[in-house]
Amino acid sequence: MKIGIIGVGSIGSTLAKRLPAKGHEVKVANSRGPETIDADLLANGAQAVTAEEAASDVDALILSIPLAAMPKLAPIIQALPDETAVIDTSNYYPHRDDAIEAINNGQTESEWVVEQFGGRTIAKAWNAVLAGVFADQARESGDPERIAIPVAADDARTGEIARSLVEDTGFDAVDAGPLTESWRQQPGSPVYCTSLSADQVVDALARAEKDRIPPRRDLAIGVIMDRADDPSMTIDADYLTELNRLIYG
Ligand SMILES: NC(=O)c1ccc[n+]([C@@H]2O[C@H](COP(=O)([O-])OP(=O)(O)OC[C@H]3O[C@@H](n4cnc5c(N)ncnc54)[C@H](OP(=O)(O)O)[C@@H]3O)[C@@H](O)[C@H]2O)c1
Repeated sequence: MKIGIIGVGSIGSTLAKRLPAKGHEVKVANSRGPETIDADLLANGAQAVTAEEAASDVDALILSIPLAAMPKLAPIIQALPDETAVIDTSNYYPHRDDAIEAINNGQTESEWVVEQFGGRTIAKAWNAVLAGVFADQARESGDPERIAIPVAADDARTGEIARSLVEDTGFDAVDAGPLTESWRQQPGSPVYCTSLSADQVVDALARAEKDRIPPRRDLAIGVIMDRADDPSMTIDADYLTELNRLIYG
């Protein structure tokens, strides 16, 4: 498949290495220009380009940028042909992204993103896996330790493409339903960055309680910020997974 990736930070950098290794033709972009992209990320064959070039002539375009930057990509997204599947990894954290009133009032993050793109639909994928887990814990299909990732989408073909790419990155993909239900995989939900199996993801999505999710998200951030200055603490993927299981589970 021809794939563009916009955003090569903590999540996008792993996508940039893993998808070419599965035989995909991959172009990657950031906000500062192709010359600023680490050669390391291109080791498996991804090509560094501008954001406009990353979106040109691709079957799938993956957005792995901060949610607050989405409006800046609207012209690129709105110019895409209908067949291009747009897949978004983003999450909303009010302390980081500034308050977005509609999301604070209950609109799902993905429906807000779709609005920024003038109605162009997306899939939400890879948002509920910690960057450290995504980088280090890929497994072959069938491995009993393989972690699962929820994928929400309104359009059947976009969802199918997103799920097949999630599988190609070394994780089981679970159909999490339409974007109206994607609050079930937002920060603070039982499935969010808790490293669950496919069966556990199905159960966690069903158990999610909408009103409890934002306060639990903020509680976890409060704990992390409180501990961040403590030199005796190691806040790594294992710590965050345990914390998330405790608070979100
Ligand atoms: N970190 C995690 O554990 C994690 C897990 C799951 C999902 N997510 C979500 O996935 C998204 C990416 O997270 P991250 O941690 O990978 O972020 P990050 O490390 O901050 O990287 C963000 C990337 O987006 C690029 N970018 C920002 N604005 C852009 C624009 N207008 N045009 C093109 N590129 C732009 C940045 O390029 P420059 O450096 O050139 O500005 C950078 O490559 C976020 O929405 C985050 O919430 C993160």
